[in-house]
Amino acid sequence: MNYVIGIDVGTSGVKVIAADENGAVAASHTCLYPLEQPRPGWTQQDPEDWWQGTAEALRNVTAALNGGTIKGISFSGQMHGMVALDEAGSVVRPAILWNDQRTASQCDEIRSAAGGLDALLGYTNNDILTGYTGGKILWMKEEEPENYEKTAIIVNPKDYLRYRLTDTLGTDVSDASGFGLFDTKNKVWAWELIDRIGLRRSLFPAVSESIDPVGEVTAKAASLTGLPAGTAVFAGGGDAVISTTALGLLSPGKAAITLGTSGVVAMAMDSYKENQGGKVQAFCNNLPGVYHRMGVTLAAAGSYQWYANSFAAAEKAAQEQGGPDVYFILDKEAEATPAGSEGLIYLPYLTGERCPLQDPNARGVFFGIHSRHTRGHFNRAVMEGVAYSLRQVYELLIEGSDVTTTEFIVSGGGSKSPLWRQILSDVFNAPISVVPAAADGGAYGAALLAGIGSCLWSAQAAMALPKSQVKAQPDPERAVMYEKQYRTYCALYPALKPLF
Ligand code: XUL
Repeated sequence: MNYVIGIDVGTSGVKVIAADENGAVAASHTCLYPLEQPRPGWTQQDPEDWWQGTAEALRNVTAALNGGTIKGISFSGQMHGMVALDEAGSVVRPAILWNDQRTASQCDEIRSAAGGLDALLGYTNNDILTGYTGGKILWMKEEEPENYEKTAIIVNPKDYLRYRLTDTLGTDVSDASGFGLFDTKNKVWAWELIDRIGLRRSLFPAVSESIDPVGEVTAKAASLTGLPAGTAVFAGGGDAVISTTALGLLSPGKAAITLGTSGVVAMAMDSYKENQGGKVQAFCNNLPGVYHRMGVTLAAAGSYQWYANSFAAAEKAAQEQGGPDVYFILDKEAEATPAGSEGLIYLPYLTGERCPLQDPNARGVFFGIHSRHTRGHFNRAVMEGVAYSLRQVYELLIEGSDVTTTEFIVSGGGSKSPLWRQILSDVFNAPISVVPAAADGGAYGAALLAGIGSCLWSAQAAMALPKSQVKAQPDPERAVMYEKQYRTYCALYPALKPLF
């Protein structure tokens, strides 16, 4: 049997899977590691922990395979993390992660060095967000000049694992996009912008396509992981991008919705498109010629979690004593109330918002409360409000294009709720599907890339492996009602904005 291996280096742990030549997951192992928060808003990790976890997970997966041929290995990784390496390849300081917020002033500096937002979009097709790698490099230059001087090259988390496996350094086009200093149209570093900011050009690694071969497992790495020395290694990609690859998305006909703590709407675009106003994240995708677009609404399943913690505390406590699941109870109450929650509308801006609007001062709202409303109405309104926000994100993603999406694939914790899937279907007026392979997310996408790179599958064949199952169809009457209520929802934030 032939196998391919996918490695996903996440924020809480690393997952390694082996998929067989039919695309079925044959072995899987996860190792967890700590997150360092030295100050509020700062997040860091030790790259050595990623490597130790990966080596252990690889030892378990290779042992479970019991023979067969490993055709290739590839990676998915938390994006934007700054891994600073010196001339000898040693880590200079802890990696600064994607969710670290220390670089607000560096992002302002980068925007103004570019000549304003429009000029920045001309360089990269993206605004610069605090999570991105570019601001972190500038921060290190300004705040830790001795570390900046020591640094020979910057890579992202998955690239560090590649380095430990193959001794080669570089990144791929999807992670390079997440630096915020990459010309995503021409797939080269935005050198003029980098010069204007005053960063050393030599810090920026070579960039390849995600499916390109980038090295072979060294004898030393083989002895630590159980992998055969000489196994082919392919570049891989950033997790937020690769999770759409894991669903088999190649064009905008199908889009992905993640109902995690935050909510993501993402799609593959079959050509480069300008990102008007920099409102979404417009990155290179994992297959040549394909682009990626996504927008993140911050409180999606996180809204329902906050709501359950605050307004169903007794049920939560009962659950902890072995009682029924609190979300099951809340869903049942919501199901018993009419679609549209009899005019009650929820705005999910609990921690400000990133997309569809960028406003750290925005706050959550329940609008239109009436004396007949019960807790069930509020439960349902929270789910509906999140669905509206996701729809607004989707509309930004397709703005100015003639894209029609006929199916939305939902994943993440919230996607387990049949009611939430139905609400999404009615609000988007489109079928909602799930893909079982999404459970392995980035690791599965990485295995697909290894399979394409090693010619186990053609790109088309690999992208046909994840199978979707339709779980909800829109109801025409509810779709009309939701369309009307969505218009009211869209009018609420502009009306309230001056008061936040
Ligand atoms: C994407 C992003 C996150 C991280 C999480 O822009 O910041 O999805 O990649 O691992």
